[in-house]
Amino acid sequence: MSTPDEAATELERLAKLIAYHDELYYAHDDPEISDAKYDALRRRNQEIEARYPALVRADSPSQRVGAPLVGGFRRMAHALPMLSLANAFDDDDVAEFRARIVRFLDLDDDAELAMVAEPKIDGLSASLRYRRGRLVLGLTRGDGREGEDITENLRTLGDVPEVLEGKPPAILEVRGEVFMTKTDFAALNTQRDAAGEPLYKNPRNSAAGSLRQIDPAVTASRRLSFAAYAWGEVSAPLGDTLWQARERLRGYGFRLGDAERCADLAAMLDYYTRVVGSRAGLDHDIDGVVYKVDRLDWQERLGAVSRSPRWAIAHKFPAERATTRLEEIIIQVGRTGALTPVANLAPVTVGGVVVSRASLHNEDLIAEKDIRIGDTVVIQRAGDVIPQVVEVVLDKRPDDAAPFVMRQTCPVCESSAVREPGEAVRRCTGGLICPAQAVERLRHFVSRDAFDIEGLGEKQIAAFWAEEWVRQPADLFRLGERAEDLAAREGWGETSVRNLLAAIEGRRRIGLDRFVYALGIRQVGQANARLLAQAYGSLDALRQVMTEAKDEESEAYRGLVAIDGIGPKVAADIVDFFAEPHNREAVKALAEVVMVEDFVVAASESPVAGRTVVFTGKLETMSRAEAKARAQALGAKVAGSVSGKTDYLVAGAEAGSKLKKAREQGIAVLSEAEWRELTG
Ligand code: IVH
Repeated sequence: MSTPDEAATELERLAKLIAYHDELYYAHDDPEISDAKYDALRRRNQEIEARYPALVRADSPSQRVGAPLVGGFRRMAHALPMLSLANAFDDDDVAEFRARIVRFLDLDDDAELAMVAEPKIDGLSASLRYRRGRLVLGLTRGDGREGEDITENLRTLGDVPEVLEGKPPAILEVRGEVFMTKTDFAALNTQRDAAGEPLYKNPRNSAAGSLRQIDPAVTASRRLSFAAYAWGEVSAPLGDTLWQARERLRGYGFRLGDAERCADLAAMLDYYTRVVGSRAGLDHDIDGVVYKVDRLDWQERLGAVSRSPRWAIAHKFPAERATTRLEEIIIQVGRTGALTPVANLAPVTVGGVVVSRASLHNEDLIAEKDIRIGDTVVIQRAGDVIPQVVEVVLDKRPDDAAPFVMRQTCPVCESSAVREPGEAVRRCTGGLICPAQAVERLRHFVSRDAFDIEGLGEKQIAAFWAEEWVRQPADLFRLGERAEDLAAREGWGETSVRNLLAAIEGRRRIGLDRFVYALGIRQVGQANARLLAQAYGSLDALRQVMTEAKDEESEAYRGLVAIDGIGPKVAADIVDFFAEPHNREAVKALAEVVMVEDFVVAASESPVAGRTVVFTGKLETMSRAEAKARAQALGAKVAGSVSGKTDYLVAGAEAGSKLKKAREQGIAVLSEAEWRELTG
């Protein structure tokens, strides 16, 4: 390789070749070359890149998700997303969960809807991939779409079989919880105490710390357990019911948690009561009970809504409470300018975790509960949510405690903070000049579900902002030019700088949905970001349409509000965001330094992928919710009204004005049966 031209050609060839072998290995489980040959390709790529750094391609394997992170674990996409669970906090929530399923599936009142109830183990989930009965990959949950490759660490667990028994499907992904027993946790901390090492806070943290060790030998020295409770990709079904599938998994050599099959609501709640009673006596932490629809065909029909399945729910244990003194009320400024009062508390242990802050939400809540500085308050903590102040212990109120008065200006930029009529929050009007908002926007930008840049906390971002190194997201991708300044910062060495820059470099490619979410547009969370990505496909298209959508009479605007799930209020926030010149500038600058991947619908081979469908009238064989969910799963967009963009109108019984309009506009009208035929 003597000339840059030759190097560029070779890098291009390697990028394609490695991508091809990655696809064979990870997506089809059918590698063509040995691991050694594959490693040699990657090494060659790396060597050329080291000689010609200017030639590193955006699609180079070294830039891709899945490339090993410096000092970390390689990220890998899950074959099927790892979902999380919606929560139920009381019996009514559980009853509503059942009722929702009955409605969605359109079941008769007397149809049997059996559920499997299991304790919810408090650990970390992991996914184990077996190919022809052998463990080939073990991932953390990560953000649900991508996890970290911790295969070697997982192999050290006694409960993780290396080779399966019986006749498992050729591809089998088993999911479950990694946890540490209370006994093993206590023993580990005793050992660490004797060695003068910092103690772990609780079994969950210690399981997490033990699993994410770079050296598998360290993981092996910790006693971790694994209980299976679900699966991801499987090349053959595991049964007709969850109950059968559990038995199959047990037969392959997995340990399964406790479970009970419940025929009705009463049986579910009875199981819950018994688990609550036995909780203290168990040797591992649990934080609730999970109910899951037993019939797997029903699970499939129910599908998932954003990140949790419709067919399962976690019934959480009551929140744990404690009493402590409220020492101070501070005001935090969020990325949209919302001022949130936060209580600084005398530190207190709640459910095994030390708490020193609690959210007070807004000024109305403080007034309503008459919370004053100096008060003794009852706080509660439920799962991972931020602790809340429940009530004031009035007997203990100091004589001089005065009611709290909310400030009318931003504590950071001093701009006036106003409350719009009908809103509970007060917002800083400083917009782009408010440093707090700028820093929070950047924090959101790098957060896990957005660009997911590790090693950039609030402190660093605030410091980089103050130094004027990073004023907008695109600046992050130019931090490499400041490597020396960074290394000169107190408490920073070359290694931390290298790690940070590597983490940033690893994120130059990003999917459109994450990109949109990262922008931090008001009311555009992950679900709406995905809807937008799905509807417009590419960043260019999205920008174009949003510019046109300023005009509410435009086709662009009508298309936006026609997206099922995006109402006029959300649409206004999106349009406003793109109307603001600074935002447009920031998006443009960003698009120059990162590569935004078009949103591709997984089910693109389905005949309705990318098509816009409107449902109207009464459907016979499925509920409206199921019809809509299924269409979306096949990659179709579901709109609420007929427009020039509509491809199909599915008309059930008693269809009215929409049917008329579709006929007038010459849009394809399908009966429910025709729709079912079209979508298989
Ligand atoms: S089922 C799609 N079952 O809880 C269903 N999860 O809040 C996936 N968990 O990420 C989860 N015990 O880490 C399921 N018996 C159980 C569980 C369980 C613990 C954890 C798991 C999951 C989280 C969801």
